[in-house]
Amino acid sequence: MKLLLLIFLLVPSVQAQQIGLIANTDGRKTVSLNGQWQTIVDPYESGYYNYRYQPSDNGYFKNAKPKSKTDLIEYDFDSSATLNVPGDWNTQSDQLFFYEGTVWYKKSFDYQRKPDTRVFVYFGAANYFADVYLNGEKIGQHEGGFTPFNFEITKLVRDTGNFLVVKVDNKRRLDAVPTLMTDWWNYGGLTREVKLIETPSTFVHDYLIQLQKGSRQRVSGWVKLAGQKLNQRITVRIPEVGINKTVNTDARGFAEVDFNADLKLWSPESPKLYDVTIEAATDQVRDQIGFRSIETKGTDILLNGRPIFLRGVCIHEEAPLRGGRAYSREDARTLLGWAKELGANFVRLAHYPHNEFMIREADRMGILVWSEIPVYWTIQWENAATLENARNQLGEMIARDKNRAAVVIWSVANETPLSDARLTFLKNLISHARSLDATRLMSAAMERHYINDTTQMIDDPLGEYLDVLGCNEYVGWYDGLPEKADRLEWRSKYQKPLVMSEFGGDALFGHHGDAGARWTEEHQESIYQHQIAMLKKIPFLRGTSPWILTDFRSPRRPLPNIQDYWNRKGLISNRGEKKKAFYVLQQWYRDLQH
Ligand code: GCU
Repeated sequence: MKLLLLIFLLVPSVQAQQIGLIANTDGRKTVSLNGQWQTIVDPYESGYYNYRYQPSDNGYFKNAKPKSKTDLIEYDFDSSATLNVPGDWNTQSDQLFFYEGTVWYKKSFDYQRKPDTRVFVYFGAANYFADVYLNGEKIGQHEGGFTPFNFEITKLVRDTGNFLVVKVDNKRRLDAVPTLMTDWWNYGGLTREVKLIETPSTFVHDYLIQLQKGSRQRVSGWVKLAGQKLNQRITVRIPEVGINKTVNTDARGFAEVDFNADLKLWSPESPKLYDVTIEAATDQVRDQIGFRSIETKGTDILLNGRPIFLRGVCIHEEAPLRGGRAYSREDARTLLGWAKELGANFVRLAHYPHNEFMIREADRMGILVWSEIPVYWTIQWENAATLENARNQLGEMIARDKNRAAVVIWSVANETPLSDARLTFLKNLISHARSLDATRLMSAAMERHYINDTTQMIDDPLGEYLDVLGCNEYVGWYDGLPEKADRLEWRSKYQKPLVMSEFGGDALFGHHGDAGARWTEEHQESIYQHQIAMLKKIPFLRGTSPWILTDFRSPRRPLPNIQDYWNRKGLISNRGEKKKAFYVLQQWYRDLQH
């Protein structure tokens, strides 16, 4: 356990000069900075670099105003266009639909800080690279478009006239995570909520309160304080089951917490969440936590000790009905509601950590979650900075969601080509994840190969290091016609459970024809009929998450009048219309429940 604190303290991140992620912002005094932000679109980054392409000390982060009629200032946030936050810029302005580059955001606010408190600015996410300034001072930077980060502004914030400036750059890079090529829209901007968080000067910074691996009674975790008064008595309370566990933090503000409790276990059928409070002399946080155990045994996945089949579907963070990056509780409820309608008890959130509302709603609705970092296709495996970036995104994903019962699988990669460098990279991520969270299952979406015309083999060396094998296959779409699935047999080198993490095909809603004609609903329906017959025959199959719940935007899909920059593999269209294949899968998932 002490090692865990060491790891959390040592996790190198852009916030090294700051404290790590504040685990839970619910129940804290927060001030939302959502809404209209002034923005400057800056394709040449002339607000950051001078004409010699050197970083300028006098960039747009100064939010400068001419002091006299001779003063030369060539930008002005306050008379510039605005963009909504949270929100991607691509769907807020036709000019920015394809835009990849820098946009500067500015938000002015007043803030009366109470004595003996600290203030942090918290970002749910910013795609992709964010440089953050307050009142003209750099307070930090963050790389990665799908995980939260916060910076302390206690010393910089003033009662009135604060200006928070964020340079957001979503340019794709070869050495980045994800890299240059993806099959989703590179929505840029402050895509999730921004808020100020006020804490006591010594506060409950982070905690893990979950069942010990393999146990259904023993709660095992830790609490970490941040601030001056680090030696304190901490009480973890779960009033409903009479738990009032008191421990003392050590000189670093850290305490382990272990106790037995007679808990009603969280499951899709009964997603029980308990009110949990963590009290210190100087602070108190509240959370709603579910308790469940998740393990594998041979080729079985065991939830609370009982075998479970993961009836799932993949979801991209595409806003239902309106398109663009989803970010709200309503978006989450709509998407997860459709998954429930499908008969799903599981969702694969692809290919990056989705917003916290998705995870909290899954916790509440009883939907198991596969959460993934965007190590997607051909990452620069031998680049140490790329590895550090991937480790950081993994650390932030786990830090935010480690107390969520719904999250059962961490995935470190999707469809990555075999090589020794790739294996070394992914093994590093897997051991990093296991060091941060020993309670959940590790997986990745791998690929398979034919050992003869009718036999598929899963023997990716990565499988050795995973708990659950994930495999993507497109028999009937990229690989032959739908009926090809009828002749296929599946084998695996590993005695481990398989989740078929992607399968399916494209169809334009309302486009009808014979089942052999691509892009028709009948063709997609046929793919699912043949797929399901094939999947039923795989002895070690313990879950499915077909590609994908709804159509989603992709710059790789320009076919006019069919795709129009939408990947049409959704079972539901981008206007919320259910395609024929939706009902084929729904029927199978119904059958599986009986
Ligand atoms: C891949 C990939 C997805 C992609 C899908 C497709 O398997 O993982 O991100 O969108 O196939 O081609 O539609």
